[in-house]
Amino acid sequence: MRIDIITIHPQLLESPFQHSILKRAIQKGVVEVNLVNLRDYSTYKQKQVDDYAFGGGAGMVLMIEPIANCINHLKKERSYDEILYTSPDGELLEQKACNYFSTLKNIIVLCGHYKGIDERVRQHLITKEISIGNYVLSGGELAAAVLCDGIIRLIPGVLNDETSALTDSFQDNLIAPPVYTRPQEYNGWGVPDVLMSGHSANIEKWRHEQSIERTQQRRPDLLK
Ligand code: ADE
Repeated sequence: MRIDIITIHPQLLESPFQHSILKRAIQKGVVEVNLVNLRDYSTYKQKQVDDYAFGGGAGMVLMIEPIANCINHLKKERSYDEILYTSPDGELLEQKACNYFSTLKNIIVLCGHYKGIDERVRQHLITKEISIGNYVLSGGELAAAVLCDGIIRLIPGVLNDETSALTDSFQDNLIAPPVYTRPQEYNGWGVPDVLMSGHSANIEKWRHEQSIERTQQRRPDLLK
């Protein structure tokens, strides 16, 4: 898979891909992440990419021209399955969408801007708008990082134990069961006996029951 991320803050997005699972996925060649600086596609001397909103109002708006130039340039090299835009008024990101995006070959992620982008970009150039939650961030970069992490870890070959993505919370609309590790007792706080029993069928049964119970308690909306 290849992900081209269009941003005015490429440096802000470097670190998430230089550590842990995402770093390993890139090293393995399972995914290629290309950070594209939108300013490189500005036709202005000062590399300007935003301007005042028509009709007035505070805040600058990203212009359509550099974005269109950039997307057209990328499209000359390859075709894209989706062109995503991160915005608090987009579709709320869910596991199901991450699963779908992880099956694609090439995607573009355009990072949102705090006062928005020219509406014509959204109407004509973007295929899906993604929100990572009902709160407003200062830019779309961190949302793009969250989105890419949610996608990349699902690509086959990224996680060592492929079943571990399948047992994630939300993968089957259930919250993951509790987990424990050494020591078996800390401060008088123990571990459920069944986990120490070595009886794998009982452990599986217990985990499933815990998942259902937790989902009923914490996220009953998932069971509807
Ligand atoms: N940009 C600012 N806030 C955002 C959010 N909640 N989701 C996606 N992009 C954003």
